[in-house]
Amino acid sequence: MAEDKKYVELLWHQKYDRINLGEKMPIERPNLPFQVVETVNKPRIKGGYNIPLFPEDKYPENYPKDWKNKLIWGDNKLVMSSLIKQGWAGNINLIYIDPPFFTGADFTIRTKLGDERIEKEPSIIEERAYRDTWSGGIASYLKYMYERLLLMRDLLAENGSIYVHLDWHVGHYVKVMMDEIFGAENFLNEIVWERTYNVGSSKSRIKGFANNHDTIFYYQKTESHKPNKIHSPYDEEYIRQHYRYEDERGRYRLEVLATYSQETYNKLKEENKLVERVTSKYPYYKQYLDDMPGVALHDIWTGLYLGASTSERIYFQTQKPEALLKRIILASSNPGDIVADFFVGSGTTLAVAEKLGRRWIGCDLSKFAIQVTRKRLLDIHNSKDLNEDDK
Ligand SMILES: C[S@@+](CC[C@H](N)C(=O)[O-])C[C@H]1O[C@@H](n2cnc3c(N)ncnc32)[C@H](O)[C@@H]1O
Repeated sequence: MAEDKKYVELLWHQKYDRINLGEKMPIERPNLPFQVVETVNKPRIKGGYNIPLFPEDKYPENYPKDWKNKLIWGDNKLVMSSLIKQGWAGNINLIYIDPPFFTGADFTIRTKLGDERIEKEPSIIEERAYRDTWSGGIASYLKYMYERLLLMRDLLAENGSIYVHLDWHVGHYVKVMMDEIFGAENFLNEIVWERTYNVGSSKSRIKGFANNHDTIFYYQKTESHKPNKIHSPYDEEYIRQHYRYEDERGRYRLEVLATYSQETYNKLKEENKLVERVTSKYPYYKQYLDDMPGVALHDIWTGLYLGASTSERIYFQTQKPEALLKRIILASSNPGDIVADFFVGSGTTLAVAEKLGRRWIGCDLSKFAIQVTRKRLLDIHNSKDLNEDDK
């Protein structure tokens, strides 16, 4: 490390063992057996019918029919190291995590029971985890994240990718750490996710500007990762300005045909798309809005909010919107792939993975989070009813 003068690394208290200076603290990797508490054999579909996840002829090759998704209760460090010991290394295609953000209040869960809002006290396990994570301030938090990110790297498939959801509290520290673990050359994006469209008047009265975004770091494990292209619809204003013409086929714009083969010219003419003008030496062709894919997605994500009264809201304080996870899962996995979330919370990642025909593995330290997620997954009625464009 020291010989490479361009090397940059984040240091925190006790990252390196003091006695053998220069040797990183060893990461314990226990192998604990998993105890099966419950097996739900088939998704529960309205009416009690057991419908397979995909039509018989459309089962993706990589989705074994005897596969069972896994929801595991336990500290993710133990869960991940046990998964690795049990042969899961290199098998997970996509990991999304939304870990605690160093806000100091991450293990008190506020939720709703019927119409009543309740606050659940942390259990003994949660309290202990809380102490381990935060007792040394930011240094112990960084150690906690470092150990877990190393395990995640081992679990990822060579063509896999990881999204780590954070905010201004620790995001910048974790970015440097991820460069070390995954390689700066494997960094793909820092996604800015706008949390809400309305920050409210009270928040905007704070000194400086209101904080209204989280940061999601997206890394590939290796160059072999191939994300799917995602497009969003053009906005009204863009359409008004750029697609000013309309005929019976729809809105279009005129593009100049400066270089073309005779074949292209004939084809456009045949399709009635060619427009010749006496004032121009080149012909034009009609480019229809319907033929265009939309705007290629960039790294500022707006419009993916968890509405106050949306039916997906289960009053889990840190719940993320399904639309956000849908975008991530569609961009970085394919049907049948294995998607994992090791900080499952209310189960948003797993619910979306299930709806999109991905296999999934999830875990959480909090029994309450596991119960909420279990219920949410069992409540996905007719999740096989995918939209055509989701496949
Ligand atoms: C911010 S929440 C995740 C919210 C989730 N994305 C959602 O949409 O509901 C973080 C979760 O991580 C869990 N957690 C924190 N430390 C953990 C650990 N060491 N092992 C497993 N889960 C942990 C907490 O119990 C909490 O449920």
